[in-house]
Amino acid sequence: MLSTLPRLIGHRGAKDSAPENTLASIREAARQGAAWIELDVMLTRDGVPVIIHDDTLDRTTSGNGPVPSLDLAGLRRLDAGSWFDPRFAGEPVPTLEEALELARSLGLGLNLEIKPYPGQDVPTARAAMAMLERLWPSDRPLLVSSFEVPCLEVALELAPAVPRGYLLWDPPADWAAIADRIGAATLNVHQDRQTADSVAAYRATGRPVLAYTVNDAARARTLFDWGVAGLFTDAPGRLAAELAT
Ligand code: G3P
Ligand code: MG
Repeated sequence: MLSTLPRLIGHRGAKDSAPENTLASIREAARQGAAWIELDVMLTRDGVPVIIHDDTLDRTTSGNGPVPSLDLAGLRRLDAGSWFDPRFAGEPVPTLEEALELARSLGLGLNLEIKPYPGQDVPTARAAMAMLERLWPSDRPLLVSSFEVPCLEVALELAPAVPRGYLLWDPPADWAAIADRIGAATLNVHQDRQTADSVAAYRATGRPVLAYTVNDAARARTLFDWGVAGLFTDAPGRLAAELAT
């Protein structure tokens, strides 16, 4: 079971203030006081787990084409910061190894979202879980999540003690059976699709509900009133401050 769950999780680090899923974004989330961050992990062509969200390089780097079109050496030549702001020029796509080391050193809790390139569910999950096993201390807060059920099955098989979050957007009819089968610790749902009744139905399975992605304080209050346990936010510092007033 999860011993602690945060109210706010910095989405892709602190996505509003720094280029998402970079070391700068992780540092910024910590600077803003986030207790936890969420990061997305995918494989390079040579099977190295790196932190990136999209299937393609185009939006968040100086490169283009599918992420697995490049090996790690090629990926590391790209600039993942300038698109966001020239201040971040030269910021690389981090490896999972670098991100884990930084997050750990900053004392952050981590939600690692396994975000496989299509067709790479099993190798991506295997690589991510192996790196977590090697680098993430067992007493530091950790949640592994995915929209892809095969990834969660691999996580269960390789590291049953690591809590798993089942990510849902348009839930399949048998979502509750899947959550049972993969031993989900949390249900991570799209905030915009929720009502008081939907949150109640998720909570009725006995699992905490986390909602992505919430940047508005009024919406955050509504979701908390409905019983949502925690929120992913692009602006962890600002939202925390607004919720405190
Ligand atoms: O894990 C929460 C959220 O990150 C899921 O959606 O597309 O932002 O990775 P996405
Ligand atoms: Mg994500």
